[in-house]
Amino acid sequence: MDSIVVVGGSPLGGTIEINGAKNAALPIQCAALLTDTPTTLRHVPLLSDVYTMSSLLEGLGCVVEGDRVMTIDPRGVASGALEAPYELVKTMRASVTVMGPLLARYGRARVSLPGGCAIGARPIDQHLRGFEALGADIKLERGYVELRAERLKGTTFAFDLVTVGGTQNVMMAATLAKGTTRLENVAREPEVEELARILNKMGARIHGAGSPVIEIEGVDNLAGVDHAILPDRIECGTFMVGAAITGSDITLRHAPVDDMHAVIEVMREAGVRFEVTPAGLRVIGPEALRPIDVTTRPHPGFPTDMQAQIMVMATMAHGQSLITETIFENRFMHVPELCRMGADIVVQGNAAVVRGPTHYSGAEVMATDLRASASLILAGLIAEGRTEVRRVYHLDRGYETIETRLQSIGADVQRYHGARG
Ligand code: EPZ
Repeated sequence: MDSIVVVGGSPLGGTIEINGAKNAALPIQCAALLTDTPTTLRHVPLLSDVYTMSSLLEGLGCVVEGDRVMTIDPRGVASGALEAPYELVKTMRASVTVMGPLLARYGRARVSLPGGCAIGARPIDQHLRGFEALGADIKLERGYVELRAERLKGTTFAFDLVTVGGTQNVMMAATLAKGTTRLENVAREPEVEELARILNKMGARIHGAGSPVIEIEGVDNLAGVDHAILPDRIECGTFMVGAAITGSDITLRHAPVDDMHAVIEVMREAGVRFEVTPAGLRVIGPEALRPIDVTTRPHPGFPTDMQAQIMVMATMAHGQSLITETIFENRFMHVPELCRMGADIVVQGNAAVVRGPTHYSGAEVMATDLRASASLILAGLIAEGRTEVRRVYHLDRGYETIETRLQSIGADVQRYHGARG
C-alpha cells in the first residue's frame, strides 16, 4: 500500500488545474447504460473510483475505451447478466447507480446491496422506494436487490430525505418511463444538474434539476453523446484550504466558482481573499485566520465533503470554531489523527469544537476515508517536520496524483510505493 510523505513549511505559489468532478463522472458513466449508441466523456478524472465503475460497466457487457477521454459502448449489455456483483459494489457504493439505467433500459437488474462504509450505514431505501413508485418489483435476497419491471410508469414521488444518489438513480429510471414523473424533495447538487444536462443531450426531457422538484417526461429511447464533465468543486475546495492554511497565493484554473458559494463564504469569513481572474480563481491566505461556525447541509448549503478539510482550516484559526455534521453519522474519523498531530478538537455528538491556532508536528497517520485522508495531507503541509499518511488508496479514489499537483505549487510531498500498510 502506498504512503505519502509531506514535509511541512514550504510556502505555496502558482497555478493548479482543477480536474473533472468524480461525483459527476460516476453517475454519468452509469447514464451511458441508458442509450442505444456509444457515449464519449471528456475531462474524465483519472481516479480509482472511475476505473472501478468502468470495470463494472465492462462486467455488464459494455466496451469501455480510453481514460481522460472515455468512450462507453453499451450495445453488448442486452445479452448480459445485468448484475453488479458484491466484490465491486462493496468497494464503491456509487455502483448502485447502475440500477436505475438497467431497470429503465432492460426491465431488470441484480445489484448487490452496498453495505455500510467508513462514514456511515448509507442505506439505499430511498432509491428502492423510488423504483417501486415507478412500478418496479423489488426483491431482496442473499444480499442482493432483484429489480423487475415491464415498463416503468410515470408517477409523483417525494423522497423522505435529500439523497444525491437516490435522486440521480430514480431520475435516470424515469427518463424511459411511460408518462411524466414528478420527483419532490430532491438533491440540488451541481452533479445532479450535470447529470440532467447530459441526459437531456441524450434526448431525455428533464426540467427543474437544481431545484427542489424535478419533472421528467418519459421518452422511448436515448442516444449516446459527447460530453465534457464539469470541474470538481470538492477537489477545488481542498486546494483552497491549502492556500488558506499556508498563507499562500495560488490560482485554481477552471474553478467552478458558481457551485462553491457556501465554501467561499465560510472562507471569506475566516479572512481568505478571492479574486476571479482570466487565469482562474485566485485564493490568498491571510496572515491570521478567524474562527468559523459551519454546519454541513445539502446543496446549496456547506458540503459534507468539505467538512474534514475546513476543519483543518479551523484548527489554524485564532479562537474557537464549531463544525456540525448533519449528513453522515460517522464523519469525524479525521479528528483522532489530527489530534495526534497536535490539534485541539473535541467531538460532542455531531458537533466538533475546534480551538486554534495549532502548532502541528509531523507524525505517522492512517487514512480512513477519502476526505479524511485529504485533511491529513493538508495538516502535513503546515506541520513541523515529516508527516507520513498511510493507506493513501483512500485518497486516490477522489484525488488524481495529489502529490504531483501539490509539488507543482511548491509543496514538499513524495509518494512511496508499496510502503507498509
Ligand atoms: C454522494 O453520496 C456523494 N458520492 C458523497 O461524496 C457525498 O458525501 C454525498 O452524496 C452527500 O453529498 C457520490 O456522488 C458518488 P446521499 P450518496 O444519498 O449519494 C442517507 C465523497 O467524498 N440515505 O446524498 O451516497 C445516507 O445514509 C463522497 O466524494 C438514506 O438514508 O449520499 C446519508 O446519511 C462521500 N437512504 C444521507 O442520506 C437512502 O436511500 C445522504 O446520502 C440514501 C441516502
